[in-house]
Amino acid sequence: MSATAARRVLLAAPRGYCAGVDRAVITVEKALEQYGSPIYVRKEIVHNKYVVQTLEKKGAIFVDETEEVPEGNIVVFSAHGVAPSVHDEAKAGKLATIDATCPLVTKVHKEALRFAEEDYDILLIGHEGHEEVIGTMGEAPERTHLVDGAEDVAKVQVRDESKVVWLSQTTLSVDETMQTVDALKQRFPLLTSPPSDDICYATQNRQVIIKQIAAEADLVVVVGSKNSSNSVRLVEVSLEAGAKDAHLVDFADEIDEAWLEGVATIGVTSGASVPEILVQGVLEWLAERGFGDVQTVTSVEEHLQFSLPKELRRDLRTEV
Ligand code: F3S
Repeated sequence: MSATAARRVLLAAPRGYCAGVDRAVITVEKALEQYGSPIYVRKEIVHNKYVVQTLEKKGAIFVDETEEVPEGNIVVFSAHGVAPSVHDEAKAGKLATIDATCPLVTKVHKEALRFAEEDYDILLIGHEGHEEVIGTMGEAPERTHLVDGAEDVAKVQVRDESKVVWLSQTTLSVDETMQTVDALKQRFPLLTSPPSDDICYATQNRQVIIKQIAAEADLVVVVGSKNSSNSVRLVEVSLEAGAKDAHLVDFADEIDEAWLEGVATIGVTSGASVPEILVQGVLEWLAERGFGDVQTVTSVEEHLQFSLPKELRRDLRTEV
């Protein structure tokens, strides 16, 4: 950067909360209002530290497994979805459940179930150990094979190569996933594709706009937690699209002043589980260091909203 280069921030839009996260967070808040504390939540309701800490302060108790919830209590299932066996465990433990699984994850579960019923082998592209992947695989464990990147393609063993379908986790890199699909098609020429995209609109939209910004940016700051798949993908996509440097931070105070050295243009975005207050914190931090010129770069506007889980809507309605 020349000494006179103007400093600016290119702020991505859309960024932050998607419809599924918004619904999941409101679900826990409304459940707390409706039934009182404690409300148990299996796993992090969404993968964001600040959101989890804020809900804990309001009376939510996060647990790893359903069996940790004392009998007779209410447990909320997180936005990432759960395997059918988890519903069975809750029933056995006499728990009332509220399912905050994102409807776009449920869509993938239904696809998995349908293809398994039609006796397909399912190649699920996703990251090993991610909660969404564990949940989706649980629909048809004996029929589903995890493909964690193109390097897994050679290892896959199926029963009948003419009855194979690929599905995917909702929060992957679009480009990387298509490379894996191409490799799968080479190996299984009769591979069936899902009826519609599994990578959700929010993941795709956030990648499209940060790619555009990254091409002009010396540095990209992605606000998001390390266990948030879609946030981590935004860092990778930024670097692939030409950003000289890119980092993931939960909070503004994690930004290292050294990253700003020689930097003129900073791209800023946030993952789908990140509240806007955290992005504003980053913008303030940057403004204090000479990056007060913020230009919003918009690709599309998002208007999708999901209604609250039916179990909760029923009780909220009864109250009215
Ligand atoms: Fe759903 Fe996509 Fe958000 S799957 S929770 S809309 S990131």
